[in-house]
Amino acid sequence: MVKSSNSSHARRRPLATSLLIGSVLSVLSSGSHAAGEHYDGAMNYRLHCEGCHQQDGSGQPGYIPELRGNVSRFLAIPEGRVYLARVPGTAQSLLSDTERAEVLNYIVRSFDGDHLPADFTPYHAEELARWRYDALSQPSVVRASLVAQLESSRSSSAAAPAKVRGTSATSPTTSGPAAASGPPASFAICAACHTVTSDGAPGIGPNLHGVVGRHAGTAAGFSYSPAMKDAKITWSRETLNEYLTSPGAKVPGNYMMFVGEPDPEQRKSIIDYLESLR
Ligand code: HEC
Ligand code: HEC
Repeated sequence: MVKSSNSSHARRRPLATSLLIGSVLSVLSSGSHAAGEHYDGAMNYRLHCEGCHQQDGSGQPGYIPELRGNVSRFLAIPEGRVYLARVPGTAQSLLSDTERAEVLNYIVRSFDGDHLPADFTPYHAEELARWRYDALSQPSVVRASLVAQLESSRSSSAAAPAKVRGTSATSPTTSGPAAASGPPASFAICAACHTVTSDGAPGIGPNLHGVVGRHAGTAAGFSYSPAMKDAKITWSRETLNEYLTSPGAKVPGNYMMFVGEPDPEQRKSIIDYLESLR
């Protein structure tokens, strides 16, 4: 079960009853594990996840997201794939890496087969091992940001007029032509994770005040990925442009759950804005 000191899980008191049932079951199941028995994804879902997510994946409105008809949408972008592996329920589960991979494969296939990408590669043990116990500390904020990214990539690929970006994220109220000093609308997604004022506490991402000219991975008070700490990059217009085009290509293994901004004009306005943060 979720063994988490994480506050977002600690708040889930009303679920105590179902959790209790869940933990009793998991005690029973670890007992039979000693005998070398291996349960499949469906069975482990019932034993370890269903207490919160429900048998049919319907979750609990406003509390536990509905897996049914939704969960496989995240697989459309690599960051979404990582998200499913790093939510506390998956990352902190006491199941083995193989079992956690099997449970996820069961979840995405049986609750939302319709949104499963045609080229879906099943989750595998090594992938789950990489994020073991490395749960997202604020999954709901990351989730909101991913949903916004999925919505915007869908509207741009359908060549629809740019729709409200980041509506569901905790985004600043800026929109339309940027006020002389304010962030451009395209920064709304970034603001879900980054603060920008000189005294802003780090959020899901590091504070970006004065980022231009700074060495990567050095903002005070933020715990970076090893990849970012070792990146040996100085942030300039050029390196930022590369990173924001494809964060995972520029710094492989970094923790920013952002697909990248494909539009050069949007990147330019974001970088102009980052440059103004001094
Ligand atoms: C204590 C209740 C609880 C248990 C038990 C639990 N989860 Fe979750 N799960 C959540 C909550 C709440 C979220 C929403 C993200 C967050 O705040 O962690 C979530 C989100 C998820 C998501 C992402 C879905 C989305 O739409 O954002 C996946 C995938 C997931 N859990 C998998 C699992 C798996 C696999 C297990 C069992 C091994 C499990 N969970 C057990 C509460 C739980
Ligand atoms: C879902 C959260 C999230 C979103 C959205 C996001 N970031 Fe990040 N960002 C992070 C995290 C986490 C890191 C730290 C990465 C690491 O340690 O590997 C980071 C790192 C960075 C860095 C490197 C900073 C440093 O101190 O080295 C820059 C620059 C950056 N982000 C800019 C942006 C911009 C611009 C956007 C929007 C276009 C954006 N980010 C969107 C979470 C996010």
